[in-house]
Amino acid sequence: MMKFEEIKKLSISYLFANYSREEVCFEKGRGEFLYDLDGNEYLDLVAGIAVNILGHCHPAITKTVKEQVDKLVHVSNLYYIKEQAQLAQALATIMPEPLSRSLFVNSGAEANEAALKLAVKKTKRRRVVAVNNSFHGRTIGALSATGQQKYHDGFEPLLSNVFDFINYGDIEALKEMVTSDTAAVILEPIQGEGGIVVPSAEFMRTARDVCTDRGALLIIDEVQTGLGRTGKMFAFEHFDIVPDIVTLAKGLGGGFPIGAIVSSDDVASAFQPGSHGSTFGGNPFVCRVATKVIEIIKSEGLDSRAREIGEAWISRMKSLCNSKPFDVRGKGLMIGIEMGEEAKQFQKFCFKDRILVNVCAGKVIRIVPALIISESSISRFDQTLLSYINSRS
Ligand SMILES: Cc1ncc(COP(=O)(O)O)c(C=O)c1O
Repeated sequence: MMKFEEIKKLSISYLFANYSREEVCFEKGRGEFLYDLDGNEYLDLVAGIAVNILGHCHPAITKTVKEQVDKLVHVSNLYYIKEQAQLAQALATIMPEPLSRSLFVNSGAEANEAALKLAVKKTKRRRVVAVNNSFHGRTIGALSATGQQKYHDGFEPLLSNVFDFINYGDIEALKEMVTSDTAAVILEPIQGEGGIVVPSAEFMRTARDVCTDRGALLIIDEVQTGLGRTGKMFAFEHFDIVPDIVTLAKGLGGGFPIGAIVSSDDVASAFQPGSHGSTFGGNPFVCRVATKVIEIIKSEGLDSRAREIGEAWISRMKSLCNSKPFDVRGKGLMIGIEMGEEAKQFQKFCFKDRILVNVCAGKVIRIVPALIISESSISRFDQTLLSYINSRS
């Protein structure tokens, strides 16, 4: 068996150095737990950054994977694909009307690229309003829509003359910036990478109204928030709005790569054969798995479970942190603890207790576990948070 040091050496020798990694390598996963090479168990509150929505190796997903691998993995979109059509139907049943048509890609960035292209094609306009502190992916279009300079550094000029940035939450700026030249407004319903920032309902509703008034399309990026994580199937539902285009990825495949855009018949009709495409997008394998993911979330009510468990957890964390200037926020099982400079230290403290959390925006502990997380695992984290706070006071 390979030892950790050998794996690390191999990685340093042969991989691009574009990730900074923790000193651990996992060999096995079950539910909300990961196991390292020595068999040590870790409580995983990162879940592949909101990807392993049903936990690691969910038995029903593993069974579906095995069945489909034995049958058919990939065929081209030159042909009809049963599993793709079935997944699109499943998405239509969990989306509000009139969002009933899907196009499949392989990642969040690709979904946002497709959404931006669709908005430009549908409206025949070129400009897009995006927000500061956002994150939409690393490809040129998605990166250009990302309102964080640190991700732009070294790659400019990106798409110039396309994106107009406003502050997340700035209603007046929204009203001013969206004009008859605007093809779309692109927003996360809760900012993830930006530090778990929940916008006001008024901001989100104004975005919807302003887009409708000026003939622009509202793109909601549910890549991180989607599929029950925030306590509703989609986070835009917290604000009683219906977007024109929704982008999905991460949790949709339960660990297998897939992205999607979902829109109405009318908006989707802007794409004709040849307008857009993806070789791997919508292959029978990943579509069958994603359909199963949706089925499990629905049948087990994991969205409502995330809401109940998340609400209780957030309020418990708030009281645990009340002696500290920490800000606990989020919805459902998408939770942030803003700790400032202490965030990195707390992450290390958790790691020593074999609990995985991640730091986003340099100062916020992000907690985005599998939606099947048990109450005892949640208590285990609470104990660690309490010991950290006690050790610092
Ligand atoms: C809101 C949001 N959009 C898009 C992306 C990009 O997704 P991917 O890494 O699958 O391209 C992310 C990834 O973190 C995200 O959080």
